[in-house]
Amino acid sequence: MTDSNEAEFDARDLRRAFGNFATGVTIVTTVDSDGNPCGFTANSFSSVSIEPPLLLVSIAKTAYGCDIFTSSHGFAVNILAQDQRDLSNRFARAGTGKFAGLGWRGVLTGAPIIDDVVAWFDCEHYEQVDAGDHIILIGRVMQYSYNTHAPLGFCRGSYVSFGLTPTMLQLVSSPGNLRVGAIIESDGRILLERNPASGQLMPPTSDSVGDVDTADSLLGNLASAGIEVDLPFIYAAYHENATRFVYYLGELQSLKDAVETPGLQFYEFDHITWEEINDAATIAMLERFIREKSLRNFSVYVGDEQNGEMHPV
Ligand SMILES: Cc1cc2nc3c(=O)[nH]c(=O)nc-3n(C[C@H](O)[C@H](O)[C@H](O)COP(=O)(O)O)c2cc1C
Repeated sequence: MTDSNEAEFDARDLRRAFGNFATGVTIVTTVDSDGNPCGFTANSFSSVSIEPPLLLVSIAKTAYGCDIFTSSHGFAVNILAQDQRDLSNRFARAGTGKFAGLGWRGVLTGAPIIDDVVAWFDCEHYEQVDAGDHIILIGRVMQYSYNTHAPLGFCRGSYVSFGLTPTMLQLVSSPGNLRVGAIIESDGRILLERNPASGQLMPPTSDSVGDVDTADSLLGNLASAGIEVDLPFIYAAYHENATRFVYYLGELQSLKDAVETPGLQFYEFDHITWEEINDAATIAMLERFIREKSLRNFSVYVGDEQNGEMHPV
């Protein structure tokens, strides 16, 4: 836990602290005075009131669309589905032209309702509040709709999914041997364990997740090596022959100076000895992790060692 006083706030650190609040992801839209659609990605959305029906979203004063939004007739909030990450990224870039090739329609206020979103709210302006470097747009909901698709989540700067997909649940609960592992990264290095029998490297795994006090569990083995991790997200779930593998994305909480357990070692991404990893599925997973780490865009892999699907985390 990091404590800070206002006098010494660092803007990036404060943003990181706020980012611990898991949210959905929306695209907020309107049309300018020439009828051109305009929009931006926002996770500052919040419901405000049922009677009257109000919601809010805040827009940075530096945003290209700020003046367009504050002088518009109204705006729409589009809540994105799990498979609409690309749209989120597209609308997080500043400027115009974000609607090229995109399906949308106007309903009451004319603000774009984007195809295939999980929910939308078409709003008239109710009030605008000047708040520091943002303006809070409070909208009165004139019309709305929603469906049962899984929403896209966002937490700590990455997209997340809110639960196991049905396919993952099926995989995790089907009979067979289970190995639970963790992908643990620290400053561009990844933790790998050398199998004493085969000499091969792979991320640390065990028969169960356990906890720091349980011997022979994933968390117990790591704790006895001085490594404490949280396991907030599942990163991969697949089966190889009769064994099911579930890998978590581990978040390092503390690391004692020396990793004492023989065989456990952090490897720089550039210095992984790939020839010592004798397993195509593990190599593919680690390569994906290194690629996604640079993009801060993680997905979950579900399937067997050859055929699988990527699901947004
Ligand atoms: C997940 C996510 C959430 C965001 N939330 C907000 C937000 O609530 N308010 C805001 O002004 N910008 C937010 N942004 C940044 C804007 O999307 C970004 O600055 C965009 O360029 C603004 O578009 P514009 O400059 O074309 O108006 C968010 C970005 C991402 C990726």
